[in-house]
Amino acid sequence: MASFIHQVVFITGAGSGIGRATALAFAEAGARVVVAEINEAAGQDTVSQIQRLGGEALFVSCDVAEPAQINAAIRQTVDRYGRLDIAVNNAGIGGAFGRFTDQSPEDFDRIMAVNVGGVFYGMQAQIRQMLLQQKGTKAEGKEAGANPMESYPVGGRIVNVASIAGVRGMPMGAPYSASKHAVIGLTKTAALEYVKQNIRINAICPAYTHSTMVDDLISAAPAMEDRMRRIVPLGRFGQPGEIAQAILWLCADENTFYTGQALQLDGGMTAG
Ligand SMILES: NC(=O)c1ccc[n+]([C@@H]2O[C@H](COP(=O)([O-])OP(=O)(O)OC[C@H]3O[C@@H](n4cnc5c(N)ncnc54)[C@H](O)[C@@H]3O)[C@@H](O)[C@H]2O)c1
Repeated sequence: MASFIHQVVFITGAGSGIGRATALAFAEAGARVVVAEINEAAGQDTVSQIQRLGGEALFVSCDVAEPAQINAAIRQTVDRYGRLDIAVNNAGIGGAFGRFTDQSPEDFDRIMAVNVGGVFYGMQAQIRQMLLQQKGTKAEGKEAGANPMESYPVGGRIVNVASIAGVRGMPMGAPYSASKHAVIGLTKTAALEYVKQNIRINAICPAYTHSTMVDDLISAAPAMEDRMRRIVPLGRFGQPGEIAQAILWLCADENTFYTGQALQLDGGMTAG
């Protein structure tokens, strides 16, 4: 497993599912993890789990649909740890399961604000901080100056959690599918713009993965479960830990040639 010792990792939506599994995996690999969450109890629970493992973590309250809150969350990260090495823009919502013509404007707007706005404004704040670090401008922070990562090569890594619904249509989930297509567009564009600054930016596209989001979908439409399993060639849903390991691989120091990609983790779903 790659080592992330002393690296500072900021993860949105880390109170549950894929985000929590990713936070735990980074902490186990030695990173200092910032859990940015709208749900304080869930976020604090992830922090406690990391601390019980002997790891280092900070909770910051953040609704990613609010640019000011994302900016504040990145500021809190730098105040505490002095820098930002890795960001995982994972927070997302599924929205209502329904036909295209039945989708409500309120749902559409909220999905876009969280899934697209969260990634767009998140990356703006994260890239600004990463660029600041390249200029050698050190933010003042509790641990700034004592940071063993000061000799770390310039650059940064960002992973945006998209979905298989970002590379193909998703009947009964038009706003969600549109939002995840947008995440991939933002990822590729930002990756190209900051390639020379050695900020590697990728997206990950999981298929159905065990989490609150999928459980909610299945309880809204129980008949879907069998159908969902059947269209995954591996015949099962993914586990959050499997997605987390792929995110760590994307961010590993050794992984120097991979940027601007949308990695599909889908049990073979898009192979045919
Ligand atoms: N589970 C799947 O099958 C699946 C498949 C493909 C992609 N994804 C994507 O993976 C990501 C994580 O989903 P999950 O399945 O782990 O879901 P989840 O519901 O278990 O976790 C999502 C977390 O995000 C938090 N969150 C929601 N809105 C937020 C906001 N505005 N600001 C900050 N935090 C917020 C929630 O409180 C929750 O802790 C999402 O972007 C989702 O679209 C999930």
